[in-house]
Amino acid sequence: MKNYKLFTATKVGSLEIKNHIVMAPMTRCRAIGNIPNDMMATYYQQRASAGLIIAEGTSPSPNGLGYARIPGIFSEAQIAGWKKTTAAVHQRGGKIMVQLMHTGRISHILNMQQGSEIIAPSALKASGQMWTDAKHMQDYPTPKAMTAEDIVSTRAAYVTAANNAIEAGFDGVELHGANGYLLEEFLSPNSNIRTDKYCGSIENRCRFVIEVAIAVAAAIGKDKTGIRLSPYGVAGDMPIYDEIDATYDYLSKELNKLDIAYIHLVDHSAMGAPMVPIEIKKRIRSNFKNTLISCGGYDKESAEADLNNGLFDLIGFGRPFINNPDLVGRLEFDHELSQSLNTDLFYSADEKGYTDYPK
Ligand SMILES: Cc1cc2nc3c(=O)[nH]c(=O)nc-3n(C[C@H](O)[C@H](O)[C@H](O)COP(=O)(O)O)c2cc1C
Repeated sequence: MKNYKLFTATKVGSLEIKNHIVMAPMTRCRAIGNIPNDMMATYYQQRASAGLIIAEGTSPSPNGLGYARIPGIFSEAQIAGWKKTTAAVHQRGGKIMVQLMHTGRISHILNMQQGSEIIAPSALKASGQMWTDAKHMQDYPTPKAMTAEDIVSTRAAYVTAANNAIEAGFDGVELHGANGYLLEEFLSPNSNIRTDKYCGSIENRCRFVIEVAIAVAAAIGKDKTGIRLSPYGVAGDMPIYDEIDATYDYLSKELNKLDIAYIHLVDHSAMGAPMVPIEIKKRIRSNFKNTLISCGGYDKESAEADLNNGLFDLIGFGRPFINNPDLVGRLEFDHELSQSLNTDLFYSADEKGYTDYPK
């Protein structure tokens, strides 16, 4: 029988993990009142055979809670709520980090707490619509361009959130620098037209992301800090731009200097997005010496092939974990995968399509 690297133990940062499989972060909108609950602890515990779980996009501040029913990690109640999840996963021998997601301009005020504001690098609205519980689909709004004070306070919010994550029992944090949310909005000249030191050159557009990474790594440890990036991703109305290769070339070199635990690359071509050129993946691989995770459209054989060709160190699985809570065992022992993925229940509010997929 073939020996699969996928199912062997390894390390990411200082964390020992039992296999090379990462459960990708997936927003599931079950955090009623933006507070993690028992249902979420059950969901993650069911999936604890992953080497590393990256818990869903979680806001570092009220302004980053742009979607309905997503969790935060800035209040005492949220920290207490997350403790149930981390304890449940650790009890089964799993490891779990949390994705810090500030939704930036991909937000709607109807989803947010009173007194919040929608902020982004520049007052440029994304085209398209998003769900709100109160009025269903709504256009994306025009965000407020962040002031110098907003930049300082938002960076500080990431640091507090990262400290809160450690207090809540997480094994580390992943900065969400992908998919068109706040951090990626700074990277792209299509969403960032500032006139200060955060725009005007590649170095300047990368500045906020790097500052946040430096500050979070200093607070909780570089070995507990990772980042997700989506070069050539188009989610959140992020068109491709001329300097895209040079931007991610520079950024990955700078992140390498910070010696953070990992970069997590997203390739959503399996979800209908444009292909991500292999050249940019190779470029990031050669620039970044620590763990490189790849996610998007994998099955057992393609995951194993990408681990063995030297390009990636860990493989992320997203959707297969939704309807296969015991995905790792099913892959390892060649049991059939569930065919019952109900996409209508991705973002609904209760157990259906969430904790009721059978082992
Ligand atoms: C329901 C759902 C929610 C998602 N939420 C997030 C999220 O919160 N943060 C993120 O970075 N990616 C998110 N993604 C993207 C996944 O992490 C992953 O990159 C994507 O599903 C591709 O992997 P797959 O082909 O194995 O599903 C989400 C995907 C799905 C299907």
